[in-house]
Amino acid sequence: MKEFFTTVSRIILNNIDPDLFSESEIQSSLERPQNADHGDIAFPCFVLAKKLKKAPVQIAKELEQKLVSSISSTEDLASCLATGPYLNFKLSPKALCKIVNQVLIEKDSFGNSTIGQSQKILIEYSSPNVAKELHIGHFRNTILGQSLTNIYRSQGYEVISLNHLGDWGAQFGKVAYGYLHYGNEEELKKSPLSYLMSLYIKVSAEAESNPQVEIESKNLSKKIEEKDPELIKLWKRFCELSINGLKLVYERLGVYFDHYIGESFYMDKVDSLIQSLKEKNLLEESDGAQVVFLKEGDPPCLILTREGTSLYATRDLAAAIWRKQEFQFNRCLYVVGSEQKLHLSQVFQVLEKMKYDWSSQLEHIAYGLYRFKDGKFSTRKGRVILAEEVLNEAVDKAKQIIEEKNPQLADKAKVAEIVGVGAVVFNDLSTERAKDVEFDWNRILDFEGDTGPYLQYSYARATSILQSDKVHGYVSKSPKPESTWIHEKATHELIKQIAFLESNLSASVRLNKPSIVANYAIDLAHRFSSFYQQIRILETNASKEDTEQKLGLVSAYRIVLEKTLHLLCMKVPEKM
Ligand code: ARG
Repeated sequence: MKEFFTTVSRIILNNIDPDLFSESEIQSSLERPQNADHGDIAFPCFVLAKKLKKAPVQIAKELEQKLVSSISSTEDLASCLATGPYLNFKLSPKALCKIVNQVLIEKDSFGNSTIGQSQKILIEYSSPNVAKELHIGHFRNTILGQSLTNIYRSQGYEVISLNHLGDWGAQFGKVAYGYLHYGNEEELKKSPLSYLMSLYIKVSAEAESNPQVEIESKNLSKKIEEKDPELIKLWKRFCELSINGLKLVYERLGVYFDHYIGESFYMDKVDSLIQSLKEKNLLEESDGAQVVFLKEGDPPCLILTREGTSLYATRDLAAAIWRKQEFQFNRCLYVVGSEQKLHLSQVFQVLEKMKYDWSSQLEHIAYGLYRFKDGKFSTRKGRVILAEEVLNEAVDKAKQIIEEKNPQLADKAKVAEIVGVGAVVFNDLSTERAKDVEFDWNRILDFEGDTGPYLQYSYARATSILQSDKVHGYVSKSPKPESTWIHEKATHELIKQIAFLESNLSASVRLNKPSIVANYAIDLAHRFSSFYQQIRILETNASKEDTEQKLGLVSAYRIVLEKTLHLLCMKVPEKM
């Protein structure tokens, strides 16, 4: 679409005083008309009003007249009409064919750009505490972070994805206590995460009624901090088992990290941090603890406890400094729940006070929570809803639906996995980041709603058209402007949406919102469905040439849909 935006802005510029406006100024104000019937690209004439000292409606009218000859001399534009203060341009059939051709040539790199070139972005996401299972709350930052990683990469950014595991803190003492007192190797090997978590829950409960348990657990924590070799060995083993367990869930979600760097990694960097805070005269005593005072209204940032041990924020400070040194990022995004807003703002403020000019490159990407529509959800322990349980239930439900709809399907288990997981992932990502995610089993798995399964079904349908016996031996071709069906509204709307992929990807990056891509995909699939209903693709008496061109558009659609789904961490079934 970019090239057409350039064409439009040049035409406008040629017909106004070029000294008053720049091409980029005009180009960046181009938009999609509110009403698709008006055209494909709109130019709001308000942009010119001030400098031209005329009313936008009048400017639009005058430009419409002036532009007639320029429009007829371009290949890409069919018309330009003034509607109120807007000038609306329509793409020509030739332009539409060019778009399809471009997709067929570029394949899944269509929509990519180089706007992020030479920009390095570190994205931190998921970051659960180890020895605990992933719960439903982790879905959001895990999937959001991965999807942002994918989308940023498509726009040419170099992204480093990082999991800041919570592998340090009081929970270790408790888990170690549990393991040393009543640990069971068999159980641990069978399902490490849930077993370690059950130990933690058990010991926490015991500690509430028996202070001795609390004291002993704390002692164990302390011993780990003091690097007791036996305990360190045990702790390392728990971490490894935890990471392996996490990876199983991550893999189902299409989530991969360049680095797993837990909080413990920064322990030996705390001393130099303290040193530097002291040198900069920022460390002050408050109630026996060492703190940094921040802007008025904010509580101070706790750096060391009375006992001299480091805290969560201390490790985050050391982590930020190390990351900057190590990776030299241009930006660092923290995909972390909004309940940690104050914490991160404290960390960022301390870095600013330390005069790190890069502190302004750190951003908190916050998000809403999960809400259950009907409140019903079977949980094993009655407290947290585990990520794996949600996925398994979604896959079971998908299996039942497939069994009803398409009992002959080969590979039913595999397809159910793709569809069930996809339903959960899409429900999450299609929700605007700051909003809470509504979780309603019936809705997320509705094959006809605006859901993941609907998109996957549409993909499978496009695949089946391309592989139909009727077109055996046919090759997908780029359509020709003379073909009558190219002039149909349904075709026009579908191709136009394809062309808008790149601008949606760049908007998604600008606002850190994968939901823009999710909604784009839904819109795209709706248009394909109208196209499919109106244009008979596998018509028996159509010429081979004509059918091959239609297959070209179906192919292009399939390429673009698959790409957007991959950006959204979803897999696609060839049959469904
Ligand atoms: N492990 C933390 C938790 O589960 C989240 C870490 C967020 N990232 C950070 N850099 N503090 O609450």
